[in-house]
Amino acid sequence: MHTITTVAELRRTLEKSRSADQRVGFVPTMGYLHDGHLALIAASQAQCDVTVVSIFVNPTQFGPNEDLSSYPRDFLRDEELCRGRCVAILFAPGAHEVYPIDFQTFVEPGDLAKPLCGSFRPGHFRGVATVVSKLFNMVQPDVAFFGQKDFQQCAVVRRMAIDLNLPIKIVTVPTVREQDGLAMSSRNRYLSEEERQRALAISRGLSAALDEFCSGERHVEKLIAVAKKHLEAVDRLQYLELIDGDTLKAADSPLHRSAALCAAAYVGSTRLIDNVILALPAQ
Ligand code: PAF
Repeated sequence: MHTITTVAELRRTLEKSRSADQRVGFVPTMGYLHDGHLALIAASQAQCDVTVVSIFVNPTQFGPNEDLSSYPRDFLRDEELCRGRCVAILFAPGAHEVYPIDFQTFVEPGDLAKPLCGSFRPGHFRGVATVVSKLFNMVQPDVAFFGQKDFQQCAVVRRMAIDLNLPIKIVTVPTVREQDGLAMSSRNRYLSEEERQRALAISRGLSAALDEFCSGERHVEKLIAVAKKHLEAVDRLQYLELIDGDTLKAADSPLHRSAALCAAAYVGSTRLIDNVILALPAQ
């Protein structure tokens, strides 16, 4: 595995793959890798000849009162995990490689960035769209892989790729969960044992609503009410919304198209997000 920290070296290394007509897969991460990231790597390796994993904790997607400075980091462990999975290139640029001095050009996503997390984390998706487009320019992958847990991020990135004519296929990989259902997240490590137990309310609420949906329930209010009962165990529910999977606007009731039930909640001081897809055949 090549561990690379500069764009110049990344381009040089990837030139060989490109001239051999190899398909380049890209897994952007902020490190502190878990099984969710490893599933993205596996998906890339199944579909591509060369897999590039990036590790960069992107300052522009954190708000002033968020956890940028305490965001979990363990580069050596991440490097070992990538080596163990036969990742071809681990790209770990420094802050100035990504944001040169006097940096002033951002990618501003539109309406998809406004609801859900966007309304609680102003500027978050501007930071995500900016860094992802920069990483796309650096890596120039054929395919890029994102986790479904970040449902809105997937929608914003997919839209950005279309709007900016990026010749990159965006693949969403299903959420990986702990055995008890908690969605894997680097932030889970902030949870105390007691909070970890209460955090299960999120996945349990979403999966109870999914069960109701699978039993035939189509009324949005009823599905939300089922999930909400479980979510009483969290400290602060930011949102629990049933949205159209394409527009991210409130889904029509009764449901007649596939939708996503999305939640964000604080357990202690940790903000967690999760979602389930309520899939209906296209009409
Ligand atoms: O999902 C993440 O880890 C980040 O938002 C991403 C896509 C790596 C951009 O910093």
